[in-house]
Amino acid sequence: MNGVDFDLNRIREWLTTGEEEIVSELLKAADRLRSETVGDEVHLRGLVEVSNRCMRSCLYCGLRSENSRIPRYRMQPYEVVKAARKAKTFGYGTVVLQSGEDYGWSGSKIETLIRHLKEETELAVTLSLGERSLDEYSSWKKAGADRVLIRFETSDRKLLSKVHPAIKDDEEIRFKLLAELKSMGYEVGSGVMVGLPGQTADVLARDIQLFSELDLDMVGVGPFVPNPETPLGWITEPPVSGQMPATIEQTLRVIALTRLTLPWAHIPSTSAIAALDPELGHSRALSAGANVIMPNLTPLRYRSNYAIYPGKAFADEAEESVHHALMSRLSSMGRRPGVGVGGKMTQRV
Ligand code: 5AD
Repeated sequence: MNGVDFDLNRIREWLTTGEEEIVSELLKAADRLRSETVGDEVHLRGLVEVSNRCMRSCLYCGLRSENSRIPRYRMQPYEVVKAARKAKTFGYGTVVLQSGEDYGWSGSKIETLIRHLKEETELAVTLSLGERSLDEYSSWKKAGADRVLIRFETSDRKLLSKVHPAIKDDEEIRFKLLAELKSMGYEVGSGVMVGLPGQTADVLARDIQLFSELDLDMVGVGPFVPNPETPLGWITEPPVSGQMPATIEQTLRVIALTRLTLPWAHIPSTSAIAALDPELGHSRALSAGANVIMPNLTPLRYRSNYAIYPGKAFADEAEESVHHALMSRLSSMGRRPGVGVGGKMTQRV
């Protein structure tokens, strides 16, 4: 089953229609397709936020280096291994190592950690560590890393250079990196924020087209959540005309359209969705095309300092209770946790 090749106008209409019934049909169609392709399993990926240090200055993100209001941490390798063991105990197939762009974690230290994690746990290892060199990514692949997540944040180059200031004047870097990582043999994930200030329906429609042009294995989208500790935390400019709302509803439309254009992709119900609607966010996303959840396994002593945006769900709940809450939510929806590593899905012929 190939993805539907929607043209930009078509996608833009789905993104902007005010007719509730059309939206509801869209979400239902995506839910049906999800069940036919990737099935009813929900893959659980244990998320370990290994460091909140970051050398970048992204206007939307609380980890930006200029934010001196959060205590900075970098987990010790043994703490990461301990968190990965929890993932294994809970039956998850994957551990995701996420951090700001922290060059204090050297390439070789990460390589050793990956090798150890693979040997001891046999979990799939996903890296979400930002823009690192091709040599580093290649050594991490050889050490056994399976996947990389790196959001391109927006397809609009002007908007990107404004909100995600480039370090070496290269706005294309994430797009080039995504292509290179794919050719290295990684499963590759990317995504955008929904409702980023300056994001119009045209821009968001193009983002969705790019997901399938890049042939992504995973696509993560979440609403933009203003963080008062950042330049975009306070509204200083009037919204552009056609500004996309940063809401769950708008995010669900994007998830559904992503499912329809990439039927076999892994699509998480992201933490930003749960931040806006802790009660129902995950269930709503899982009923609109999503098939993955990334439960937070960051040790409690660090978790609240990984403050990308305010209001993170499960900010002070122990890993066991996060796990149990998610499991009961899944079973009440008639969905079951995924078995195995939950790797690349291919069309059965
Ligand atoms: N609101 C929502 N998502 C955000 N991210 C960063 N800042 C915010 C915010 N304020 C997302 C970015 C990044 C991912 C790790 O978190 O898309 O790639």
